[in-house]
Amino acid sequence: MAKVLLADDEITMVQMVAELLRAEGHEVYPFTSGYAALEALEEHQPELVITDLYLDKNKAIGLDILQKARSLNPPPTVIVITGFGTIETAVEAMKKGAYDYLEKPFKVDDLRLTIQRALSYNDAVSENAYLKKQLKRKYQFDQIVGNSLAMQGVFKMVERVADTDSTILILGESGTGKELIARALHFNSRRQFAPFIPINCSALPENLLESELFGHRKGAFTGAVNDKKGLFQEADGGTIFLDEVGTMPPVLQSRLLRVLQEKEVRRVGDNTPVYVNVRVLAATNESLEEKVKDGSFREDLFYRLNVIAITLPSLRERMDDIPLLVGHFLRHRVDSRNGRGFRISRGAMDALCAHDWPGNVRELENAIERACAMSEDSLIKRGDLPPLVVKSAQEKDDDTPASLPSLPAETAMPARHTADPAATAAPAAPTNRLGPLKDFIREQEVAYINRILAQTQGDKEETARVLGVSLATLYRKLAEESDD
Ligand SMILES: Nc1ncnc2c1ncn2[C@@H]1O[C@H](COP(=O)(O)OP(=O)(O)OP(=O)(O)O)[C@@H](O)[C@H]1O
Ligand SMILES: [Mg+2]
Repeated sequence: MAKVLLADDEITMVQMVAELLRAEGHEVYPFTSGYAALEALEEHQPELVITDLYLDKNKAIGLDILQKARSLNPPPTVIVITGFGTIETAVEAMKKGAYDYLEKPFKVDDLRLTIQRALSYNDAVSENAYLKKQLKRKYQFDQIVGNSLAMQGVFKMVERVADTDSTILILGESGTGKELIARALHFNSRRQFAPFIPINCSALPENLLESELFGHRKGAFTGAVNDKKGLFQEADGGTIFLDEVGTMPPVLQSRLLRVLQEKEVRRVGDNTPVYVNVRVLAATNESLEEKVKDGSFREDLFYRLNVIAITLPSLRERMDDIPLLVGHFLRHRVDSRNGRGFRISRGAMDALCAHDWPGNVRELENAIERACAMSEDSLIKRGDLPPLVVKSAQEKDDDTPASLPSLPAETAMPARHTADPAATAAPAAPTNRLGPLKDFIREQEVAYINRILAQTQGDKEETARVLGVSLATLYRKLAEESDD
């Protein structure tokens, strides 16, 4: 149900449209005067505005209504209605941000359809606002870390192919960061403001997965009580990420192949094709070649998905990245008992560097999380690590704090939208380089600001409040920091 403001000086028209809208369950504010509608806009905060262009004795006040509507926050979607011969004004209205126009006389069905489309556009736009926020969170503070040659190769590849429409197959053991790479591909593409929809193909039984992906008609099977849009339609304009694609049942493999070839989906129980504009990313930790050989994966689908493959190295193959990853994970944690950041002892770091990490980065991240919870004094020692990890270490232990590598920009996947220094700054570990006092103080200040920024998820106003400085001071300090 939506709030709709309606303005037209023909009373019969207003009545007809209002009736139709109410029948669909919407709340309607009807006006026959353009000026009155203009005044009421702010008060009613409608989601949709339908307005004639010429009201109140043929003045183009519809354009004023449009302009005012566009300035509201959030701006309602606007449909303009034009009389015969005013198509130029309609074009002007579209340029000024109207969503669509209807030319009088129009069919009721056209009106209904335009309204439906406008309202679902509205949903998509608010989803975008949400996504933009999510994007900032994810890529300001959880960058994809890796300085090893193998990871640098991955980053180059991601940069090269992100903004294409190619299907990409992401390969790698469990916990190597396949989903993270899928997100990076989406958020570094022009599809970034449309949905990114991950779906785990192994999590649902065949029939549910089918209706999740493609949607169904009411009554298509027991339990299908309503029409349902599939995720492919939901993702229109964006990206779908098919995780564990190797587990997809054969029937669905054929249907997926068809989507990739024809760019259209058919709902279960419905033969009408719907065109979709979706980029497909897929991931698997199994060998699809093996599956093709034993007949459980379609060869033609394999070739379709495998246009470009990105293979993520296991953590074993990039052990030199371990200290960097440890620093990255520690930087996001604060000891709630004293508000301080965590450090790690040399002995513990040695143990981490000696373990072979069958669960890859996820296992390392979990180990760090556990160690932070176990540690007595914000310094992680060998004994705080999971027993399995400690077992891989050699005998000698060392409780002096290890110095953590800082995270120069090139060791992380470039985050196109963020230049937030918190994401790349040096950790809050004490400096062991000797120098002037002012450098030391400056370093501590930078580390402290970054810690608070991390805690507030990058909220600068909140950070300034916690630090007890003005927002302007914070910005100045951040600017100085990025000049360093
Ligand atoms: N290079 C990296 N830098 C920082 N964090 C990473 C990196 N790689 C993985 N991670 C983190 O490790 C965890 C596992 O990553 P992700 O879920 O992307 O792995 P996956 O390959 O999809 O695993 P699975 O096959 O089990 O689904 C996540 O919390 C992710 O943020
Ligand atoms: Mg995954």
